[in-house]
Amino acid sequence: TGIVVLVSGSGTNLQALIDAAADPAYGVRILAVGGDRAGITGLHRAGAAGIPAFVCRVEDHDSRAEWDAALTGRIGDHAPAFVVSAGFMKLLGPEVLGRWTVLNTHPALLPNFPGAHAVRDALAAGATETGCTVHVVDAGVDTGPVLAQARVAVAPDDTEASLHERIKAVEHPLLVEIVGRAAREGITVSDGKATIP
Ligand code: GRF
Repeated sequence: TGIVVLVSGSGTNLQALIDAAADPAYGVRILAVGGDRAGITGLHRAGAAGIPAFVCRVEDHDSRAEWDAALTGRIGDHAPAFVVSAGFMKLLGPEVLGRWTVLNTHPALLPNFPGAHAVRDALAAGATETGCTVHVVDAGVDTGPVLAQARVAVAPDDTEASLHERIKAVEHPLLVEIVGRAAREGITVSDGKATIP
């Protein structure tokens, strides 16, 4: 099953998928990696693994709608079965979301702490537990149906960096597991519910 992975940053989740996909039994082929800007580590990881990479910048388009259409074209060139947003920090538009199921990984236990600063927000709120969520993207900000979650205890001396690092340690295997199952077994989304048989 072919997928396209979208990244904005360090791409450690992408790397976990690249490593898993090296085993044919995993059943996932990463057809391409897309970024919202050039020069990011995630795109270098794709290059190092011999995976085609592309950049589609909002700034190069006259409107969000035109960017959405362009991104749909770039993803569509590779004809993936579904798309994985692995630390992609732009809200996807209706064309991309209308054409593919998009899985996203988020560093908090949704519906708690949606948005771009989930780890910082959990710390600021004094949460004693947080974690990560793999979910299907809908039109909202981190509101789509949840597929799986993993929990992480917050330590009293945690910083945003230390906590995010421990979250990533559980996030990588969870994303690998769910993407693999979605690829091998299929994923259906209906009535705001997502299921992998
Ligand atoms: C992950 O924790 C993801 O959940 C969040 O940003 C981080 C991306 O990390 N949205 P990486 O680029 O995969 O290393």
